[in-house]
Amino acid sequence: MAKLKLGVLISGSGTNLQVLIDACATAGYPAEIALVISNKATAGGIARAEAAGIPVAVISHKDFDGREAFDDAMHEKLTEAGVEFICLAGFMRILSDRFIERWHDRMINIHPSLLPAYRGLDTHARAIADGVRFAGCTLHYVRPDLDNGPIIAQAVVPVLPDDTPDTLAARIQVQEHRLYPAIVRLIAEGKVTVEDGRVVYGGGVDLGENLTDITSPRT
Ligand code: GRF
Repeated sequence: MAKLKLGVLISGSGTNLQVLIDACATAGYPAEIALVISNKATAGGIARAEAAGIPVAVISHKDFDGREAFDDAMHEKLTEAGVEFICLAGFMRILSDRFIERWHDRMINIHPSLLPAYRGLDTHARAIADGVRFAGCTLHYVRPDLDNGPIIAQAVVPVLPDDTPDTLAARIQVQEHRLYPAIVRLIAEGKVTVEDGRVVYGGGVDLGENLTDITSPRT
């Protein structure tokens, strides 16, 4: 079966990109990365893509007059590269509604909170300040409403008494790295659909022991 062609959008260190690169390199993984786009020339993720021989485009939002023009340039590069599905992995620009609609149900994001709590930025500091006992990450489809698309999967971690935003972020990232490639696999296998704004896992999904705690299948 043909592999799902991914486009990965980054702005930073790219550790989530790295786990996707690693997953795509394993035998039988049903997706491949056709293009990485960074809006920052200094993003650490660029070197990760280059080391794996994956085409990278640096498209700076600063070179464009407005959000839509920047997004159009990305859209063109993505379609040129044959990208079928977008993974946002630490991409720090708000996307235009037009771009998001073009990639409806074909674009997902990893967000470092248990949505719908803590949309937006500084999720770890806000969670610590509120004294919540649990935090985590959410993989969700992207909709024009920021951090508010259908939830695909979540992972939960404890918030410990002496946590700093950095220690909490590191604990959550371990889960991000587990979730992202596992769920991209299910999506590439056609086992994840959106019905009435909620994610449904198709029949025959073998979640396996290591996934039962990070997904909430409704079969
Ligand atoms: C992740 O923690 C993710 O939750 C957020 O941005 C961060 C990106 O980290 N959306 P990295 O660039 O993948 O290391």
